[in-house]
Amino acid sequence: MRLKIFSFTLLIICFFSFQNFAQQKSYLNEDPVIEKKVDELLSKMTLEEKIGQLVRKTEVNSETGVMIKEGKFGMMGNPGRQVRDSLQKIAVEQSRLHIPLAFAADVIHGYHTIFPVPLAQSCSWDPALVTKAARIAALEASSDGLNWTFAPMVDIARDPRWGRIVEGAGEDPYLGSIMAAAYVKGYQGKSLSDEGSISATAKHYVAYGAAQAGRDYNTVDISIRTLREIYLPPFHAAVNTGAGSIMSAFNDLNGVPASGNYFTLTKILRDEWKFKGVVISDYNSIGELVNHGVAKDKSDAARVGITAGVDVDLAGDTITGDIYAPYLESLVKNHIVPEKLIDRSVRRVLRLKYELGLFDHPYVDADFFRKNLPSQEDRNKIARQLADESIVLLKNEKNVLPLKKDIQSIALIGPLADDQDDLIGPWAPDGIPKNVVTVLEGIKNKISPKTKINYVKGCDFQDSSRAEFGEAINAVKESDVVVLVVGESRDMSGEASSRAFIDIPGVQEDLIKEIYKTGKPVIVVLMNGRPLTINWEAENVPAILETWFLGNQTGNAIADVLFGDYNPSGKLTATFPRAVGQIPIFYNHMNTGRPPSPTDHYTSKYLDCPVTPLYPFGYGLSYTNFSYSDFTIDKKNISEKDSLIASIKITNSGSIAGHEIVQLYTHDHYADVTPPVKELKGFKRIYLQPGESKIVKFVIKPKMLAFYNIDMKKVVEPGIYDVMIGKNSDDYLKTSFELKK
Ligand code: BGC
Repeated sequence: MRLKIFSFTLLIICFFSFQNFAQQKSYLNEDPVIEKKVDELLSKMTLEEKIGQLVRKTEVNSETGVMIKEGKFGMMGNPGRQVRDSLQKIAVEQSRLHIPLAFAADVIHGYHTIFPVPLAQSCSWDPALVTKAARIAALEASSDGLNWTFAPMVDIARDPRWGRIVEGAGEDPYLGSIMAAAYVKGYQGKSLSDEGSISATAKHYVAYGAAQAGRDYNTVDISIRTLREIYLPPFHAAVNTGAGSIMSAFNDLNGVPASGNYFTLTKILRDEWKFKGVVISDYNSIGELVNHGVAKDKSDAARVGITAGVDVDLAGDTITGDIYAPYLESLVKNHIVPEKLIDRSVRRVLRLKYELGLFDHPYVDADFFRKNLPSQEDRNKIARQLADESIVLLKNEKNVLPLKKDIQSIALIGPLADDQDDLIGPWAPDGIPKNVVTVLEGIKNKISPKTKINYVKGCDFQDSSRAEFGEAINAVKESDVVVLVVGESRDMSGEASSRAFIDIPGVQEDLIKEIYKTGKPVIVVLMNGRPLTINWEAENVPAILETWFLGNQTGNAIADVLFGDYNPSGKLTATFPRAVGQIPIFYNHMNTGRPPSPTDHYTSKYLDCPVTPLYPFGYGLSYTNFSYSDFTIDKKNISEKDSLIASIKITNSGSIAGHEIVQLYTHDHYADVTPPVKELKGFKRIYLQPGESKIVKFVIKPKMLAFYNIDMKKVVEPGIYDVMIGKNSDDYLKTSFELKK
């Protein structure tokens, strides 16, 4: 079997090398030239024109042109390239102050070239590749006239019932922060003013992922400690990487809705983090302050929003969301909102427009994209590599996988086996389903001409018809092996798509069980936007691949893994529960006073389910074996100014080359607040040939051990710390050291 790991062509290397991703433009230092221009422009603006800059219009209609001429709004959605340029012409040539529009919309995991959904991308643990994919998305989107994306979603999610878990990087704040930075670097490139750069928006600020009971838009009630330790870090990372904007969330946070929350929007974001970019509301999240019960009417909602620190009203032309345009003017004229608050927000919007280079280059430079947009083939290569790396092998008993390419026959069954539409996932408004490689096509591209594929859909996602079960079983009986492609449709995760039961929906599991009875080797290929409860499959089916939604290259990537051209390397970034009743279940929980003990009844556990997950955070198998040995640390005691090196030997003890994601965790033995049982502090992706060994080293610095103490001060405390290095959060070698004063 030949392992093909994509090594990129020189062309791709050259293309990406023009981006110096390490050097981001930071908003922490205001550019004096831009500040001067902003001040001058602001001094010429009427109140109406200022408010116009704080409104983002979603749709084009018969009044749009006149509104632009009158400066009634400063931002738009995505009207498509042609319309975009003609509207921009009105803004630049016919409006009084010639302020260009900014075009802002959702580019989440690709624009036309659709990459794996963000949850899948995070399972690659390959931030450099995530950056490359985001860069392609930025180039495609900006070639179509977009200047600004509402991505990345950096919400930590510990609850797989919440459908939007699919849009983020999973449950861990450390990995989440790294991925947040990776996306910002890709979207914004070396400089926001580059033709191919778009402003990133870290969303949804903040703690949206902690919705009670996993129900979208629901109340969030968490401690300030959890807010600071878990939910804020990815936003801070995005801000530190230079993200141009932040989106304020829908949810109520500890009694104060996120889009009217002075503490998070101003005290933390502006005063602590010195964020100079734009805060944009979520869709009608200012108007919804009335529903939350913190504003008496829409006008009052506008007051609460702008006072808390929301600069732009996202849905500023919709019936429900039109809040700033109609109300801010009278609020200012009646001295309820000081004009300097409006000025502050307008200044941020203008600053970003200058940073984006919109005043100098308001139109799309088609020539630039002709020269700089990589060929579709090269874009597909990145998409395929990222899809390969996103797949997680959950089970592979008796090495059922990989399959031989000259296998006689394969039964391919399931509603997702020959589907294009669902594979692009829940958030790809500009994706083109006909460009998606289905699993059937991907397998056909791979196998020998002698191999017969017996394809039957078998059933649908959610209805109860078993009419095709018989045909599917017959196809299986005539085949050597069965590949079952099952899971969720694309609309079963994403916004407003929470589920109370997170098993494989409809009669799909019954179909798997019936097929299993034939005795043929069963490979389950899962596609879904969240961890699922799959106890029966984990117990019975010999091989399971978690593929999430992989985008345009789905079929090719799944075939790469099924037939061993890519040795799976993905590791889970969200825990798989055994039962919904275990949720929230995540690896970095606190210890209790009574940790679970099977021999002691009065300990923290369930009567009817183990406390352990089905698959833990960081878990994922390979077609080879990696053994961990010779774990050492170079010092047993260090001072706060010191650091130590933890080294471990990883050996590929199997017969196939492959990547391993080596994970570093630490645990504080005691503090004045309960420390988590472990926390991810580092990881390395390594590649080993069969029989090859590598020493992997991690430098541990005391500042990595910092936490919020009982007085909510970020401190590093002396004490005993465990260091764990391993394959996942549940399988590692451990040692400890002392941090001395
Ligand atoms: C979503 C955001 C999205 C916005 C604009 C909202 O409903 O919550 O994530 O960016 O719509 O499309």
